[in-house]
Amino acid sequence: MTPEELKGALKRQLNPRRAEWQKPAALVRALRLRRGQVVAEVGSGPGYFTPRLARAVGPSGHVYAVDPEAAVLDVLRQRLKQAGVRNVTPVLSRDDDPMLPQGRCGVAIIINAYHHMHGRVAFLRRLASRLPRGARVINVDWDERTEKGPPPKRRVPRTKFLRDARRAGLRLVADRAVLPHQYFLELRR
Ligand SMILES: C[S@@+](CC[C@H](N)C(=O)[O-])C[C@H]1O[C@@H](n2cnc3c(N)ncnc32)[C@H](O)[C@@H]1O
Repeated sequence: MTPEELKGALKRQLNPRRAEWQKPAALVRALRLRRGQVVAEVGSGPGYFTPRLARAVGPSGHVYAVDPEAAVLDVLRQRLKQAGVRNVTPVLSRDDDPMLPQGRCGVAIIINAYHHMHGRVAFLRRLASRLPRGARVINVDWDERTEKGPPPKRRVPRTKFLRDARRAGLRLVADRAVLPHQYFLELRR
């Protein structure tokens, strides 16, 4: 990622006006996180959601914020420090491996990130293999029918994601209408 690309990504992702369509409070509520839970935020970016997730699980819980871009994680670290958030571990992952500790995270949350990934099924398989049986995986990504969002050919329609998820051993438990432009799919390992 060039410095220019990083600047553009930060501006887009941390823009306060994003709340108008992203509705972060509603999204985090829909995740139904409990205090004390250990969660993985896969593709955290600079952490638009991270402090909110950290608050939802509380000081006895923990968030592993996973991203393969070192520069983005540097920004995340600074933001967490400024905000005094202490229950987050940033994880420098690989394109094909979330690098999560084995069996520790009861929930994996992927927001606006799946359509950025390469080797998606292999990645999901590896993610699933690091989660305990019964863990939840939640994927939020652009609906194929909405006008807002990236060009259609860069999106991953829900049917395609669900095919990938099945191949990775994940089963759909809920498809919930939470956001105006994005699907919210909840699966279990
Ligand atoms: C559009 S950003 C979304 C960031 C954040 N989830 C949000 O909604 O603000 C997508 C992020 O996914 C990350 N990403 C791309 N491929 C990935 C992979 N294989 N594993 C984990 N994260 C990945 C990118 O580095 C980027 O930070």
